[in-house]
Amino acid sequence: MLEELETLLAQATTEIAQLTLEADVEAARVKYLGKKGSLSALLRGMGKLAAEDRPKAGEAMNRVKVGIEAALDSAKAAAGQKALAAELKREPVDVTLPGLPRARGHRHPVSQAMDDIIEIFARLGFATADGPELEWDLYNFEMLAIPPDHPARDMQDTFYIDMSTAPAPPPGSPPTRGAQSALLLRTHTSPVQIRTMLAQKPPVRIIAPGKVYRCDSDVTHTPMFHQVECLHVEAGLSMAHLRGTLDSFVKGFFGPGTKTRLRPSYFPFTEPSAEVDISHPACAGKGCRLCKNTGWLEVLGAGMVNPDVLRMAGYDPEVVSGYAFGVGIDRLALLRHGIDDLRALFENDVRFLQQL
Ligand code: DAH
Repeated sequence: MLEELETLLAQATTEIAQLTLEADVEAARVKYLGKKGSLSALLRGMGKLAAEDRPKAGEAMNRVKVGIEAALDSAKAAAGQKALAAELKREPVDVTLPGLPRARGHRHPVSQAMDDIIEIFARLGFATADGPELEWDLYNFEMLAIPPDHPARDMQDTFYIDMSTAPAPPPGSPPTRGAQSALLLRTHTSPVQIRTMLAQKPPVRIIAPGKVYRCDSDVTHTPMFHQVECLHVEAGLSMAHLRGTLDSFVKGFFGPGTKTRLRPSYFPFTEPSAEVDISHPACAGKGCRLCKNTGWLEVLGAGMVNPDVLRMAGYDPEVVSGYAFGVGIDRLALLRHGIDDLRALFENDVRFLQQL
């Protein structure tokens, strides 16, 4: 038994010393020390020994095991070193090389347009105001002179909150009666006009960019889109101030050659009201297929704030007057880039967005 053990140790260490691959070393570990390995086989023979011989045999068994383990460990370390050296030789590492550059992203075209608009108006002295996307019917319609059943509501159908499951309005909320108590996804940024006037005294000079919602979905309409509202209330404002502000805005956004034109229109919250056209940037107003050969594109609604609206918001229309307009930002972004499908803006296809 003792002899057998010595032979095993000698044979194992010789064999292991010759191994150069880590996998071979592991195989040798199984062969000698595994459950079905050589050492275990000898261990099973211990039972046949006389009782007085067993301690000696056990001790020898342990020594052999430790010896083989040491041989395996050093062979494994050597094999690892060798593998690393080979790897480095095959693929030298140049630690002075620059790292892999990360692709730089950029703002979404709608955010770019929004930022530009905010900047243009900041130069004209307008602050930026904010309002919630979940809005009271009272602010979205009623106080903009669009009472329940007013036909103007037809064009702005939206998503309503089921008030039977809605939480009670927090303290300080607008009075709740009838349709006024309804909560809805705001259909335009105009309610920010009301919120601003309720919160501060004139003069008021704000723009309010943000998301708005309508039950609409086709090539030129998405259920969610973006608007910027503009409101200026002060003593002595006239349509001329509206024109001047519009002109600065449009020239700032599309370039100094861009012209504006006002056509009479109707909005419940302005009197008089106007649709505003700009000279088509793509054809420089010459006329092309996209502007139906007119050279003009309708881009926004505007007007002098209806005295009733001023009164409802607590302002005295005998003292102050105001002008306002609301513009769709998405369309402006599209026009700027010469794209004709609004939906492309919201599909989040990076291959498309990267080009803008
Ligand atoms: N809120 C209108 C809409 O979404 C746009 C608009 C028209 C806003 C005239 C105004 C305005 O402030 O004066 O269709």
